[in-house]
Amino acid sequence: MFVNFRRIRKCQWLQLMTTCLLLSVVMVCWEELDNNVVSHVKSYSYRYLVNSFTFINKSLTIPREQARSFSNFQYLLDHPDKCINQDVLLLLFVKTSPENIERRNAIRSTWGNETYIQNSLGVTVKVVFVMGTIQTKKEEPAWSKRSGIGFQEQLLQEDRVHRDLIQQNFLDSFHNLTLKLIMQFHWMHSRCPHARFLMTADDDIFVHMPNLVSYLQDLSSKGVTDFWVGRVHRGAPPIRSKNSKYYVPFEMYPWMTYPDYTAGAGYVVSSDVADKIYHATLTLNASIYIDDVFMGICANAVGVSPQEHVYFSGEGKAPYHQCIYNQMMTSHGHVEDIYDLWRVATHPQVKQRTSGLGGSLYCTAVKLTLLCKPYHFNTYPCKAAFL
Ligand SMILES: *[C@@H]1O[C@H](CO)[C@@H](O)[C@H](O)[C@H]1NC(C)=O
Ligand SMILES: *[C@@H]1O[C@H](CO)[C@@H](O)[C@H](O)[C@H]1NC(C)=O
Ligand SMILES: *[C@@H]1O[C@H](CO)[C@@H](O)[C@H](O)[C@H]1NC(C)=O
Ligand SMILES: *[C@@H]1O[C@H](CO)[C@@H](O)[C@H](O)[C@H]1NC(C)=O
Repeated sequence: MFVNFRRIRKCQWLQLMTTCLLLSVVMVCWEELDNNVVSHVKSYSYRYLVNSFTFINKSLTIPREQARSFSNFQYLLDHPDKCINQDVLLLLFVKTSPENIERRNAIRSTWGNETYIQNSLGVTVKVVFVMGTIQTKKEEPAWSKRSGIGFQEQLLQEDRVHRDLIQQNFLDSFHNLTLKLIMQFHWMHSRCPHARFLMTADDDIFVHMPNLVSYLQDLSSKGVTDFWVGRVHRGAPPIRSKNSKYYVPFEMYPWMTYPDYTAGAGYVVSSDVADKIYHATLTLNASIYIDDVFMGICANAVGVSPQEHVYFSGEGKAPYHQCIYNQMMTSHGHVEDIYDLWRVATHPQVKQRTSGLGGSLYCTAVKLTLLCKPYHFNTYPCKAAFL
């Protein structure tokens, strides 16, 4: 009896101990999870409760002379006459770094080929590459060393051939991306104000140019204004964890939520919006170095809000399939596969195979299996399957 009782107590002890251990493990992990979940829930609710961020605008407004320090960098490479006397549908800025010559060449011979766009799609799209100056501490690429020419000289040569580089005299770095953003709106304002749309894109995205052009032509014929489209982030909280790339200190941005913005990978604005954003950059403190967030702050200051398009990607690659190619606008993270993707995604067979009742039923089924898997991170949301 006594022994039995003691055994039971021992068992209970063991249970208690294991429970405690488990609980503490959960608590330790929970803190991370909790921080993340709670900050998202808080910021999301905040966004819907407050729904107006005029205080951000007020507190970040600075005198024009001070705001000028974010934009008065000298042009090292420029093409002031790029758009002159042309009816430009789209001015497309590719955010690139000096050393990414292979990415630029890939874009030039695929989706960013202006000649192809003019001949096959019948519209004028201007593709320019925007960059700062190379970080000197970085190793110069091997080909640059071999040829024995300085890096800037290499860029000049590249530009002599393609005439599409725009470079300002600031250090090209992740934390200077906002300077690059401002540069784009200022360049359009002074060199290409009549372009009907402005797009900004990373140099590792794929743009389905035929789809994008027909989408923009349609919008243009309707005379759309106040237009800003992409993958929208709503109620996103600033990241306060110091080891994140996107860390933003409290002093830089004290509020709980960012104004709505579109993922920097690729988005489009109409020319009236581009002009408003340009004006916003003249009076705002651009210290916040996350460029797409700063775009949101500018847009908020001039009363423009973004709209979602399910076929603009934020992160991640689109699934490789004809039914996706038929509708995709942008897909992120393409470098090596860009030539292949361009070839298959713009092949005439894509339209043939996905059209008609049979094609569209088939594609809905395919897209459901590709985009609507639970617990699966997707480039495009599940609802894209029904469009
Ligand atoms: C761009 O397209 C044109 C016409 O399709 C083609 O002749 C030219 O070689 C292409 N450019 C590049 C860099 O691939
Ligand atoms: C941004 O560019 C400026 C001008 O070249 C430079 O002084 C500064 O260090 C750069 N900032 C970062 C974070 O790279
Ligand atoms: C802009 O904001 C930064 C903090 O993010 C601050 O240090 C700086 O003083 C501000 N600039 C002006 C001109 O107020
Ligand atoms: C933002 O601030 C500027 C200058 O203080 C003001 O002119 C503008 O109307 C403000 N915008 C909004 C949406 O409140």
